[in-house]
Amino acid sequence: MKVRSSLVQSLLAALGLPEDERDLVERGLIQPPDPEMGDIALPCFPFASILKTSPHNIAKDAASKLMQDPFIERLNPQGPYLNIFLKRSKVIPVVLMEILEQSDSYGRQNLGKDEVIVIDYSHPNIAKPFHFGHLRSTNIGADLARILDYLGYRVFRKNYIGDWGTQFGFVIYAWQKYGDEKILEERAVDYLVELYIRANKETESDPKIHEEAKSLFKRLEEGDEKLTALWKRFRALSIETYEKTYARLGVEFDSFEGEAAISRKVDEVISRFQKAGVAIESENAIVVEVSDVLNREIAPCMLRKSDGSSTYAARDCAEAIARWEDHKFAANMYVCSRQEDHFAQVFAALKKLARAENWEYDWSDRCENISFGYVRGMSTRKGSAVWLGEVLEEARDRARAVRLAKETSNPGAFPRLTSEQLDRISESVGLAALLYNDVSASRMRDLDFDWDTVLRFDGNTGPYLQYTYARIAGVFRKAEGGDYSEDSDSVERADFKLLTTEEEWSLVLAVREFPKAVLQSGRKREPHEIAGYLQNLAMKFNNYYGAHRILNVEHKSLSKARLGLLKAVQNILGLGMNLLGISALDVM
Ligand code: ARG
Repeated sequence: MKVRSSLVQSLLAALGLPEDERDLVERGLIQPPDPEMGDIALPCFPFASILKTSPHNIAKDAASKLMQDPFIERLNPQGPYLNIFLKRSKVIPVVLMEILEQSDSYGRQNLGKDEVIVIDYSHPNIAKPFHFGHLRSTNIGADLARILDYLGYRVFRKNYIGDWGTQFGFVIYAWQKYGDEKILEERAVDYLVELYIRANKETESDPKIHEEAKSLFKRLEEGDEKLTALWKRFRALSIETYEKTYARLGVEFDSFEGEAAISRKVDEVISRFQKAGVAIESENAIVVEVSDVLNREIAPCMLRKSDGSSTYAARDCAEAIARWEDHKFAANMYVCSRQEDHFAQVFAALKKLARAENWEYDWSDRCENISFGYVRGMSTRKGSAVWLGEVLEEARDRARAVRLAKETSNPGAFPRLTSEQLDRISESVGLAALLYNDVSASRMRDLDFDWDTVLRFDGNTGPYLQYTYARIAGVFRKAEGGDYSEDSDSVERADFKLLTTEEEWSLVLAVREFPKAVLQSGRKREPHEIAGYLQNLAMKFNNYYGAHRILNVEHKSLSKARLGLLKAVQNILGLGMNLLGISALDVM
């Protein structure tokens, strides 16, 4: 990011701003809507109040002082905008060398200064179906965790599983009646859901079962030894199954402690709310009014129901308090959709507690609900429920079919794969299709899911990124086989000034935007920023590749410079895909 630092430094000087406005300048830099206007632009509005003059004057004035920067070719102040044309022959080598030298760590930043961010994601409920919302949460959460880690935070990945509640009463009831050891061992997660559904069905004709289930759960809460042992087993088996899938997805967690673990601290926390005068009794329940804090009509945050049992919200209050005590987090994020009111209630209840208890620091403002839209049309062969394992199988099988069809219809363009290669590639293309889909639009947008679309090798898909990456790998294979063998490892030392076409310039501008895309996506909690960035980069590369030869051009030194550019593009694609959990393939 040498070019950027140098520019920001020069801009500060030309604007006459102090060093501590650095961030304001750096964040202000944009890409002009039209490359004719300039390579970068600085809108001058934010400086008007500091410099006490109009944005127009600021732009004009700065333009007259800015010429000394080695990376600036010419300036074009346009109204309140300061448009900058960069000196291509200077910028291209610096940007490319920087990427090639830093390779795996290019774009890493220390925004987080080692502070902790807790991310609560995936969080399925044992004995209830894993639905699209859990899949999308798993995926967006894992992406954000990687992105924030890249930005210098210490990320604590929390899988706050739903391992407590009356559903266990139903499952235990059905287990005692029909339980089958062998089936449980074989497919724990799905089987528990089946038992749960079965008990629920029976309740329709026999309401007594509901009471029985409730009393079973009550006994479990009271610590009944046999029931606790059973619960532990269900929990362990479920987590074991989840973990297999998580491993396949490349998703990790630091903790699986969920609702059960925190339920032990809930009574204490409810008393605390009462003592502070924040929680009140209402119709035998204990609630915290929150409409005053939130300035809108919203139901109170209920901590205890009239039947004496504590609530999901009470557990979340206790859990947030514990997280603050353990981590002193910079942010505490819940990647969870369709629970906006719940989280608003919980955060507001905590804010009231902060005020009443006069906390030194009100960290409730650091709690964030990262919500997302609906995925329409996601289903598998077996129907509309999303059994996670099955979705992955289906993704893999469909990816295989697509690949085989390409091999047949277009021999030559797609090499024959060994069956081992085909297995590996199908698995990772299937995953890429599935994972990319979730971030193919900004997270609040609803998505349509369709297997044929997500598996395409072109368009806004994960396989398109993989395909582009593999295409570049293919060029390097050819280069090694040909005349470049002695040089292909030294593309870093190519003469990058030879890259003079418009497409090359546009690619260089694009690769240097990568750190910014990562930063934006972290700040906005929006993995799509990276996905969109990679799409654009892949498109630019494929345009370039269609328009220019890389190997066997007039001069070998030009080929070498182009290979260097390709290597930089490939490096950035790989880094970005990695942040999105998509594997980069050399052959596909
Ligand atoms: N298990 C819950 C569900 O599936 C989501 C948990 C979200 N996290 C939290 N701390 N409440 O609906």
